[in-house]
Amino acid sequence: MCGIVGYIGHRNAYPVVIKGLKRLEYRGYDSAGVALLNGGLKVHKKKGKVADLEEATLGKNLDGNVGIGHTRWATHGEPSDRNSHPHVSNNGELAMIHNGIIENYASIKQELINNGYQFHSDTDTEVLLNFIEDIKINNQCTLEEALRIALRRIVGAYCILLIDQNDPETIIAARKGSPLVIGIGKGEHFLASDASPIIEYTKEVVYVNDYEIAIVKADELILKNLGNEKQTPFITKLDMELAHIEKGGYDHFMLKEIFEQPQTIYDCLRGRLLPEHDEIVMRGIDNHIDSFLKASRIVMVGCGTSWHAALIAEYIFEELCRIPVEVEYASEFRYRNPVINEGDVIIAISQSGETADTLVALESAKEKGAFIFGVVNAVGSSIARLSHAGAYTHAGPEIGVASTKAFTGQLAALTMMALKIGYKKGTLNQERYTQLVRELYAVPEKVKEILTDTSHIKKIAEKYASASDFLFLGRGYNFPVALEGALKLKEISYIHAEGYPAAEMKHGPIALVEETLPVVFVATHDSYYEKIVSNVQEIKARKGKVIAVATEGDQQISHMADDVMFVPACDEIIAPLLSVIPLQLLSYYAGVAKELDVDKPRNLAKSVTVE
Ligand code: G6P
Repeated sequence: MCGIVGYIGHRNAYPVVIKGLKRLEYRGYDSAGVALLNGGLKVHKKKGKVADLEEATLGKNLDGNVGIGHTRWATHGEPSDRNSHPHVSNNGELAMIHNGIIENYASIKQELINNGYQFHSDTDTEVLLNFIEDIKINNQCTLEEALRIALRRIVGAYCILLIDQNDPETIIAARKGSPLVIGIGKGEHFLASDASPIIEYTKEVVYVNDYEIAIVKADELILKNLGNEKQTPFITKLDMELAHIEKGGYDHFMLKEIFEQPQTIYDCLRGRLLPEHDEIVMRGIDNHIDSFLKASRIVMVGCGTSWHAALIAEYIFEELCRIPVEVEYASEFRYRNPVINEGDVIIAISQSGETADTLVALESAKEKGAFIFGVVNAVGSSIARLSHAGAYTHAGPEIGVASTKAFTGQLAALTMMALKIGYKKGTLNQERYTQLVRELYAVPEKVKEILTDTSHIKKIAEKYASASDFLFLGRGYNFPVALEGALKLKEISYIHAEGYPAAEMKHGPIALVEETLPVVFVATHDSYYEKIVSNVQEIKARKGKVIAVATEGDQQISHMADDVMFVPACDEIIAPLLSVIPLQLLSYYAGVAKELDVDKPRNLAKSVTVE
């Protein structure tokens, strides 16, 4: 979703801003633009990629030590040059970029039109910008004051950067509900939607909070709240290297991230899962163990792939902790006025920690007295900060739009949590606990084994890449894995795919089965095995093509299926961590076979920061 970059300091701003925008490309966007202060305001913007913008600015004067840049993911108005950011105010003095949505923009726009304002785009951003200009002129106040007044009037979410050609020494920024990070350099500041554009210049950053305004100069950073009171900037040290956000020899970020999983799962377990002592150390759980032990129910909320991690965790928590679990799409949970009782535990699952639906769902649950536990990948993100406690997944920056290593990180963290709580609660006996701790500890090596040779998965993907539809089926712990497999294939290869519990197949999807339909069975050795074998037979009897994810050495499935992708044997509770890997690769290779942009699939955004 929209990416924001700003620079003020001794360097030429343009290359810093352009490079930063490229680092944010992974978020998904459809146009890009920059504004520079260079003896006046210079704005360049273009529908398409950042490279198109660069081409459009060739030969132009791009000097200036102050710049703001934006990649836009269209919400109000189609992707076009005119709707791209930065927008310029009617008097030509102010330029602004914005990530978020101004919900009451229509009434403000009408007010401004009545005052003689003209609009050159269909965006809510241009409305907010002119609103600020109008307040500044009418009240004869500073830009900062005008912004404060405007922000008190608007409803919605925003991260904005604002520059004024009359004040070439300042960038003003503000946030509510959309992330903003400020990097602190020597005599320079970097502003961005996340840390990836900043990391190569400085590791010292300030995460701006909701309802804060930042007045940023080359050598000064002032934070204020909307009541004009100064706030102390809290400087955090980034625990991230430049190499983490570069491709490191892989063709795509998605492939790199799939191959990183032995390490990222290990990083998630490291220092927490201690098999030699039969112990799990998770401070977020240890400090709040009573909330979990007393919980009459747990509600897990998330979106997309994170929602699938929640579905698997539901099975694991109910089995090991005997606590009823409900899994909710964050967007539905938020808007259907759910019953939340004091003492309910809400587990929020999010890679980015910025997904607007999840964030808003949590805010309202928190207001109603629920205890919020975040399972988040992005350190310092909004969800991490809003939660009462949490566990980071430690998967490192995930750049590919389709989530892979973040998903297995979520599963590893959630499985550890369930083991710990179940053991403390006494619903998980010592013997099973010890066995599962060891099984979990062995996962990184087993993932490595799956990744040793992926050429057969590539061949299977190429064989079926021209299919128009796929069905993914699984049972028990592997049912949500089937959903995730279908989602991944849709996202990356644009092949229509549906995931179902294998038994549900007979209640509808079986009508689709014919020779041309590939059906992927996630059929590892578990307590549902015999049942799923019957389902495979039902598909074969109707001439469907069966691709199976099976446990190494499984002769029965091998004989029945057209193609098999093996994973090492493991306990059924751990199985999703392994069975999802071949499905990630299947989608990746199918997308590559179709020559698609697997890292940035059309219309998708990495971090969905609008509701
Ligand atoms: C977007 C991404 C998905 C992700 C979902 C939830 O749709 O493309 O990969 O699963 O958002 O994101 P979160 O950051 O909250 O896990």
